[in-house]
Amino acid sequence: MSVTPPIHPANRLRRTRQSAAIRAMVSENTFTASDLIWPVFVREGENVEEPVPSMPGVVRRSVDRIVEAAREAADLGIPAICLFPYTTAEKRTADCAEAWNPENLSNRATRAIKAAVPEIAIMTDVALDPYSDTGHDGFVRDGKIVNEETVEALVKQALSQAESGVDIIGPSDMMDGRIGSIRQALETADHQDVMILSYAAKYASAFYGPFRDAVGASGALKGDKKTYQMDPANSDEAMRCIARDLAEGADMVMVKPGMPYLDICRRTKQEFGVPTFAYQVSGEYAMIQAAASNGWIDGERAMVESLMAFKRAGCDGVLSYFAPAMARLLAG
Ligand code: PBG
Repeated sequence: MSVTPPIHPANRLRRTRQSAAIRAMVSENTFTASDLIWPVFVREGENVEEPVPSMPGVVRRSVDRIVEAAREAADLGIPAICLFPYTTAEKRTADCAEAWNPENLSNRATRAIKAAVPEIAIMTDVALDPYSDTGHDGFVRDGKIVNEETVEALVKQALSQAESGVDIIGPSDMMDGRIGSIRQALETADHQDVMILSYAAKYASAFYGPFRDAVGASGALKGDKKTYQMDPANSDEAMRCIARDLAEGADMVMVKPGMPYLDICRRTKQEFGVPTFAYQVSGEYAMIQAAASNGWIDGERAMVESLMAFKRAGCDGVLSYFAPAMARLLAG
């Protein structure tokens, strides 16, 4: 015999929302500083912090300032920082050789942070776009992004990052087979503890606009990235990318962008049960900051709500430009 539950008044859902204490008691998710990975932009020079116009509140820092930022992040309980080099036009070449130069900006920043703030984990991006004269993540031959030749270069880039002391390698290029090739090279070079957080479900998105500005790639990029980044219409394909990257040796996976792809985050966690991260990308950050600076939304509440959404969707953590602001708020 089935019993129809009484709807009202026995079941008043407002009862458990009546006070802050009760709301806290029944809340299903929490956000802590340890859920954050902070993406930062590195530039040449000394003692420089240069604002990124399309990302209010975000700056490009010289290596000495990145070290200070890493110190602050670690003190706030942020477990990891993710480095992105701002590369000027002279360092961008057809062969992208700067990508595996042991003395490149990213590698110098890694060594400096490791020496001064060893407790923070360092993540780096593997893709050729900061170093290519085309702004693409891979080599372009006859108008096409070539896969195998690009993967060879990505392996060299990943190895040079591992040599500098990077803890987590983040291939964001979306070439086929790069995770397996990088994993094998790391094993062979005795870097078996270096983790791979694969940008496994990365979509060809309009929300990367401000980032390309921040790394100096927006002027350089010719065409779009649709032959390697995913079609926003697809969800099963994201699961195939994730399954493939895990099979090839990824330790953790990422969905990118974040807010428009919360369904993908949820499916990833549910179907694979692996460490799952979302990247709340530059355009998502810029939208919230722009609306807040016009007084159209409460910026702080929008930040907290948007970050909590990732936890609700099943993510273990979030890469966000809000990381220090959120961690400061949580610290009280
Ligand atoms: C480069 C890369 C991009 C981002 C991270 N790594 C841009 C792109 O693919 O064009 C975007 C991050 C952001 O928008 O915050 N491979």
